[in-house]
Amino acid sequence: MQALLQHGPAAARPLGRGLGLHIAPLRPQDADALQRFVRGLSAHARYMRFQYGLRELSPTLLSRLTQIDQQDHVALAAWGGDEGRQLVADARYVRQGSSSDAEFALVVADDWQGQGLAHELLGRLMAHARRQGLKRLLGEVLWGNHAMLAMTRRLGGRLVVQAGHTSVVQVQFEL
Ligand SMILES: CC(C)(COP(=O)(O)OP(=O)(O)OC[C@H]1O[C@@H](n2cnc3c(N)ncnc32)[C@H](O)[C@@H]1OP(=O)(O)O)[C@@H](O)C(=O)NCCC(=O)NCCS
Repeated sequence: MQALLQHGPAAARPLGRGLGLHIAPLRPQDADALQRFVRGLSAHARYMRFQYGLRELSPTLLSRLTQIDQQDHVALAAWGGDEGRQLVADARYVRQGSSSDAEFALVVADDWQGQGLAHELLGRLMAHARRQGLKRLLGEVLWGNHAMLAMTRRLGGRLVVQAGHTSVVQVQFEL
């Protein structure tokens, strides 16, 4: 697990507002903080992340996002504000069966966006996934998600249009 906290080569960019911010694997006891984080997101950020109009996580979804093994389902949380007790970003991947692909998703609190946090978290996830033998991180991204599509291009990811899916594009990162 310690390796998950190390900087990988893709994460060699300093955070714009690093003071008071730390990144750690998400634990089951972080469920309340995760729920507060999701409730506090703008409707836009929530929609971009979950792709439907939720206001908060259902008990089932909250459990699915926090009761994780950190092996096939790996999640990182960034903590800041309020003496480091406020969850300000969540990034994760879930391995797809026994394949070498995993599906990733991430979301950064609105007030913390634009400072390199997603770049840092995704870099760490990629480095960790590579060490675990995974070959690709895949994500479903809405066409209207300009920030995520720009980030994908910036990090050298591919956009793959899938037949029958008009509102989302698959983002692919080779590891
Ligand atoms: C997409 C998201 C995760 C980016 O987080 P962030 O911490 O603001 O991103 P970073 O500051 O690390 O920026 C990384 C790169 O993304 C791109 N980017 C980020 N925000 C952008 C914006 N508003 N417009 C254009 N490009 C943007 C840039 O290329 C940027 O790199 P650069 O500043 O060196 O050019 C954040 O906007 C978010 O949480 N959105 C809602 C949830 C979501 O869309 N999740 C993705 C789908 S799972």
